[in-house]
Amino acid sequence: MRALYPGSFDPITNGHVDVIKRVIKLYDELIIAVLANQDKTPFIPLNDRLKLVKQSLKGIKNIRVESFSGLTVDYAKSMGANVILRGLRAPSDFEYELEMSQINYFLSKGLETVFIMTNPKFSFIRSSRVKEVAALGGNVKEFVPAPVYKYLYQQVKELRKN
Ligand code: PNS
Repeated sequence: MRALYPGSFDPITNGHVDVIKRVIKLYDELIIAVLANQDKTPFIPLNDRLKLVKQSLKGIKNIRVESFSGLTVDYAKSMGANVILRGLRAPSDFEYELEMSQINYFLSKGLETVFIMTNPKFSFIRSSRVKEVAALGGNVKEFVPAPVYKYLYQQVKELRKN
């Protein structure tokens, strides 16, 4: 069975990586789908987000990293995935995720959303916080894979020069 893990990955965090490593044992293949067209303007350009996801997941088998635009359910169908995977960090995620999974179920009845609870070690990590902390000069080394840390560090250094 093939599952799709959609997200903005702006940037990928240790929480995402943990979810991917645990879930890959349950499916034959996992497609990590990085959203291209967003209403929220991404901090990191799509190509860099894709590169960082690939670098952060290096060596993990049975995964593919792709970008997509449009509806997640349409992309899942086009890729032959019958499961959408999402991580839940805290009760505060539930409302948003419930709504999204119900819309997706309405749009495509054959497609199920499966939730996995984030490892408590990573339950407070969200991409937006990581970016905020990094931009203000805080150390995000413990929150993100090494390639993301290096990238953010460089970006912030460049921003501070200008
Ligand atoms: O990591 P994120 O930003 O929480 O991921 C959100 C994502 C990409 C899964 C969601 O915004 C999405 O599915 N966008 C594609 C458009 C879509 O299908 N909208 C209808 C379902 S809400």
